Amino acid sequence: MTKQRILSGIQPTGDLHLGNYLGAIRNWVEIQEQYDSYLFMADLHAITVPHDPKALADNTRNVAATYLACGIKLEHATIFVQSHIPAHAELAWMLNCITPLNWLERMIQFKEKAIKQGEDVSVGLLDYPVLQAADILLYEPDQVPVGEDQKQHLELTRDIAQRLNYRFGSEKQPILKIPTPLIRKEGARVMSLADGTKKMSKSDPSELSRISVLDSNDTIATKIKKCKTDPTRGLEFGNPDRPECNNLLTLHMLLSGQTQEAVAAECADMGWGQFKPLLTETTIAALSPIRERYHEILNDPGYLDTVLRDGKEKAETIANATLAKVKQALGFAPMV
Ligand code: TYM
Repeated sequence: MTKQRILSGIQPTGDLHLGNYLGAIRNWVEIQEQYDSYLFMADLHAITVPHDPKALADNTRNVAATYLACGIKLEHATIFVQSHIPAHAELAWMLNCITPLNWLERMIQFKEKAIKQGEDVSVGLLDYPVLQAADILLYEPDQVPVGEDQKQHLELTRDIAQRLNYRFGSEKQPILKIPTPLIRKEGARVMSLADGTKKMSKSDPSELSRISVLDSNDTIATKIKKCKTDPTRGLEFGNPDRPECNNLLTLHMLLSGQTQEAVAAECADMGWGQFKPLLTETTIAALSPIRERYHEILNDPGYLDTVLRDGKEKAETIANATLAKVKQALGFAPMV
């Protein structure tokens, strides 16, 4: 029996943090044996906000190395660079022409990022979810494993695919496959260490708001020591008045691999002075082997070159087949 396919990607805009790890990569690793995985670095997305051209290529390779260091195995997964496959941009153009503008103006992430950019908002930032739809639809995945913040983009992807199928296909012969989001409850929304009501994010100006997957043990310890807590003694999950408490307990639960019940019992009578060293120990135990593997991988650049070359070849075959199907349905003149 052929395996179902999953597809997902991350923007190479700097070191990945615990939100990226727990909301996305950890899930890819856990389910990889059951699926054929296509995982990419969304470098075309990374230029939708002002970026440093000197850092983009390195960031892209570093994210690939992070996927591998976190446990992605090449016997289950194809890893590739989005910009190596022109079909992404080409399909995005075609989807642009059937996507109503007001669908994009409604996107929460656009509104949030546009506020930060002020006058400088690019067309690319508005159009970003259409490119994301192209990324997904090209590979005809069954599932798309992502964190909570991508839910609206996946709903839009489904709407765009349905619109194209309705206009240019038939009920019996849809052109594009409609994908399903795969959002796990735990870790789907990791919050900032500086404010438990805000999402942990690469764009937060404060380094203390996030733990990077590659942070040194000392940096991890410092960030946890300085993270925001509350004045209440005894730790609990799910109290809406204690967002930091819920977030930090959730991190401890996910990084230690324990159940919620076990962690609730373990921490019920603890104060922060006792819990913070425990969380530091758990985080270091989870991340330091990843950091070591990451440096080993980067020390062998030839290996990463091969991974990305092979990935491109395998991914491109699938992407080009879907693109050809769409071009035919839209009525483009075939090349003769
Ligand atoms: P990006 O690069 O912002 O995030 C990558 C993945 O990490 C998840 N994530 C989080 N999960 C839990 N808590 C958080 N605080 C947190 N922050 C980020 C995201 O949900 C995501 O799964 N548009 C995408 C990249 C993309 C993509 C795609 C994803 C481009 N094309 C096609 C899937 C399929 C993005 O910017 O993710």
